[in-house]
Parts: sequence; structure tokens; C-alpha cells
Amino acid sequence: ALYVRNHAPVPDVAWPADEVSRASHVQQHEVLFEAVEGSAEGGPVEEDATMTISQLQTRFGTTTVTSILQCAGNRASEDIAATGASGFTGTPFEAITQGMVGNAQWTGVRLADVLPALYPKECAATKKHGGGEWHVVFEGADGYSASSPLARVLSHEHDCLLATHMNGELLSPDHGYPLRALLPGIAGARNVKWLQSISLQRHPVDAPWNDYYYKNAKAEQIQDLKLQSLILLHEGSRSSENHGKAKVHVGGVAYSGGTGNAIARVEVSADGGKCWSEATLQASEVVADGSHKSFGWVRWVANLEVEVSSGAVAVDVCCRATDTAGTTQSEKPAKERG
Ligand code: MTE
Repeated sequence: ALYVRNHAPVPDVAWPADEVSRASHVQQHEVLFEAVEGSAEGGPVEEDATMTISQLQTRFGTTTVTSILQCAGNRASEDIAATGASGFTGTPFEAITQGMVGNAQWTGVRLADVLPALYPKECAATKKHGGGEWHVVFEGADGYSASSPLARVLSHEHDCLLATHMNGELLSPDHGYPLRALLPGIAGARNVKWLQSISLQRHPVDAPWNDYYYKNAKAEQIQDLKLQSLILLHEGSRSSENHGKAKVHVGGVAYSGGTGNAIARVEVSADGGKCWSEATLQASEVVADGSHKSFGWVRWVANLEVEVSSGAVAVDVCCRATDTAGTTQSEKPAKERG
């Protein structure tokens, strides 16, 4: 039950009928690592290299991490309501509510291991100078491409993967079978599906999905997602024993976005944000795996009591999350393009 967001039809990738053949097809899938044009620090230009997934797995091993995947356009309609017209206004996307996010366990090879082996000079220079110079370009079989800063993708603790599995099963064709980039905490648009090739360049890739869409108000590529909490269920009940009080049961999820900080608390209000009470985090259901940080979401629940008179009552419920660094979600998002 994960949203699907494609800019073009799902490419015609071989999908053998039985699972064993599919698994073996995945093993044989080749990834092209393109030579760097204008090599780093005057060294020789590296050559194109291809590696099968099987070779990548044997050499670098696999790991499993939990992360949300969220489209940068999630909650477009709420954003428009809060901050006014955006780049989505007047398009079908202005109706997007909050379903373009999901949470899953992803299995793959760590890019922090793969990239230094394939691009040693650029990775060493990035580690030495703290980054900023190189960008990793991911390209899919549908011709889609997007890039993210090398320094971010190289960071071991950020758990960026070349992923083959979602929740223990091979990726489905919709989600990028046989291979996708899975960059925890980074906008969905950079998590390229049907991954065929990887290259490095000194500037973000000049492709419409990277250079026109999914940019912020400063016209920069959106990379790190923001701290979020969402209300996914709310139920009110009132009984005669309650003497003018109604119970409101609220539940949802919270996640920290690009920082990967754990969620410290979620607060809920039943009066539009005047009074807040703390929700219960269901942190014990978060599964321990190879994750270095907390890029997955945590579910929360809260039971509120509100004063009610007779008749129908409208209750204005809202929530806000705070992470372990003490950052609290802002009441309104900053004005962006969408
Ligand atoms: N990768 C390719 N090759 N083609 C695409 O159209 N869409 C991107 C990204 N990767 C896309 C892609 C966008 S905008 C998002 S939000 C995520 O994939 C969605 O991933 P999902 O469909 O698996 O949820």
C-alpha cells in the first residue's frame, strides 16, 4: 500500500512469471557506472564500468533499513490552504492530500560502500573538503534522471541504498523493479526507479524532473524532507454519562525527514492549537534493523476530552511533532513553490 508516482509509463522490464526466475533476473541486472568527465584533480579519466547486482552484493554485502518515502508534492492542497496559490494551483495536483508517503523496510547495497570503490578520487576529495562539489546522477530505464549531492549520498549514517527489496520482497514493477535508488529522508523524486546508470558531475543534472520540478522557492533542488506529523484517524464519541464531555480518539504518524533524528514527542490539540497534550508514541513497534538513524515513521495515538454543548459539534484537531534535537514542526510551512 505505497503510493505510485511516475512521470512516464512503467518501462517494459522483463518480469519472469515465477519468483525464482525473477530473483535470478535481478541478480543479472547490470548497473552502468559512467566515467567521470573532466576527472577530479587532474587525474586520468576513469573508464565506464558495469557491475551486476550479484557482483555488487558479493563485494559489498546487503543491509536492510527502514525509511519513509515521500513525494515532495505531498499535502499540496493543505499547503495551498495554508500559504496561498502554488505551482500546483490550476493543475490536477492541487488536490493532493496526504497519501503520497509510506513507510517500508528496504534492502540493498550501501552507496557509501559502492561509490568510494567506483569513484575513489571524487569520494576522497568530497570527504576531505566536506562536499559541495560533486553530485550523483541516477538514471532510470524510462529516461528519468535526478541527482543528489555526493556528500549526502556518501554519508554512511544516512543509509542510502541501491535497493532490490521492499518489505522483504523484490520490488514490484511499479516501485522500480529490479533496482532503485533509496535515499532515506530525501525527496521521493531523487529516489530513481528502474535504475540503469550512475554518474558523477559537478552540477545537479539538467533534466526537467531535477531542474524544473521539485524545486524550492529559492529554485534549488529539494533534497531533505521536513519534520512532519499527520493525522490519519479521528473518531469522536459522546455518551450521556460523560456529562457535557466528548471523547476524541486521534491517531497518526510522525517522521523527521532529512535529519533522521528520532521523534521525541507528538502533541495533539482539540481546540485548533491553543491547548496541547502529549500523544503516546508507539515506538516499541519500530523494528531494529541496519538503520543508523530514524528515517522511518513512528505511529502515535491520543485520547482527548472536549467540552461540548448539545447538538453537532465541530472539533478542530491538530498535531505537531518535535524531534530529539528539539526542533518542533512549524505551524505553517514556509512559502514554497508547491
Ligand atoms: N524514477 C523513475 N525512473 N521515474 C519516475 O517517474 N518518479 C519519482 C521517483 N522515482 C520516478 C522515479 C517520484 S516523483 C517519486 S515521488 C518516487 O519515485 C515515487 O516512488 P514510488 O512510486 O515507488 O512510490
